[in-house]
Amino acid sequence: MKPDDRNLAPQMQRTPSAATFVCPDRFERDMSTWYRRRWLCVGRTEELPRPGGFVSRRIVGMSLLIMHGRDGRIRAFYNSCRHRGTLLTESAHGHLAKCRIACPYHAWTFDCDGTLLGAPGMKEVEGFDEADWGLNSLECDTWGGFVFVRADDSIPNDPLLQSLADFPEKFAAWPLADLKTGARIEYDIQANWKLILQNYSECLHCPSVHPALARLSPPTSGENDPANGCYVGGRMSLNDGVASMTADGSTRRPIFPKLNPTESRHVYYYILLPNMMMSFHPDYVLTHRLEPVTPDRTKMTCEWLFEPATMARSDFDPRDAVQFWDLTNRQDWHMCELTQRGIASGGYVPGPYSNREHLLFELDQVLAEPIDQ
Ligand code: FES
Ligand SMILES: [Fe+2]
Repeated sequence: MKPDDRNLAPQMQRTPSAATFVCPDRFERDMSTWYRRRWLCVGRTEELPRPGGFVSRRIVGMSLLIMHGRDGRIRAFYNSCRHRGTLLTESAHGHLAKCRIACPYHAWTFDCDGTLLGAPGMKEVEGFDEADWGLNSLECDTWGGFVFVRADDSIPNDPLLQSLADFPEKFAAWPLADLKTGARIEYDIQANWKLILQNYSECLHCPSVHPALARLSPPTSGENDPANGCYVGGRMSLNDGVASMTADGSTRRPIFPKLNPTESRHVYYYILLPNMMMSFHPDYVLTHRLEPVTPDRTKMTCEWLFEPATMARSDFDPRDAVQFWDLTNRQDWHMCELTQRGIASGGYVPGPYSNREHLLFELDQVLAEPIDQ
């Protein structure tokens, strides 16, 4: 028996096994259970605002092409030509003239709605019908200005809005669909995606890791919702005299007008499972989008969203919010990376959670459960 296996109080909860964070098989299971079967956020509609706009994304091994069709609909496809499979575009985003995309190899041409329009040299091939060779698609939908895709539709009847449960209602006071991205930073984190979600779910580490944050918002002020299969999170209060989470706690931006007095004095930190972390501030919204790459590597896109009217003001400057969270992010990623390395050290055994880490235990339970049972 290892020393820390003795004398555990029955109510003491433990952190997960090392395999949860380092095992390639477990990672693959997570990807198929949580990433391929669930709605994933892949970006903002503002990235493809007009018909012909497109973005390409790589997530959990899939190369995706998301296009804005002539009919106004945003659709998601695999970024793979139906002829011999070539990637249709290497660009991360752009605009397609005449709403069509041509494969760089043999010039098969597809409409933004995925229809095959032309396939040189195929007319004389017996049995070939263009109608059979449109781009392979994924489910795609939008909410709050975010674009979501779902790769595996083996769970039928799971429309995006239904899967979001009461999440949109909870944050109805923030005009998400209208917001625009004022800043974006991408990070490459050498840690398992679940360690990043865990780290986001407690502020026990705030006094030691984020002294600047702890001066703006009391680390013990967290009030959490019970975790569920859709979201995990809670709120923290702002100290008296602090207007928002910024470098000095002040803001020149107006607060969102529909916030009630409680909402304007708190920051709401929620994980929208499986790949979004959304932080609702009185004057801006911060989003983190996770793209797990391997068991010990996660790419992260962090965006700061503001009201267009605020961004149009001559004194608009997002740096107060960006610098504050960029510093906090880097502090967090460093802790996640140290944790990943320590868990992989060979000497890790699950440790005891404190009472202030109860949400992590709930999150672990949610993530451990297969969602299709
Ligand atoms: S692979 Fe695309 S046209 Fe041949
Ligand atoms: Fe943190």
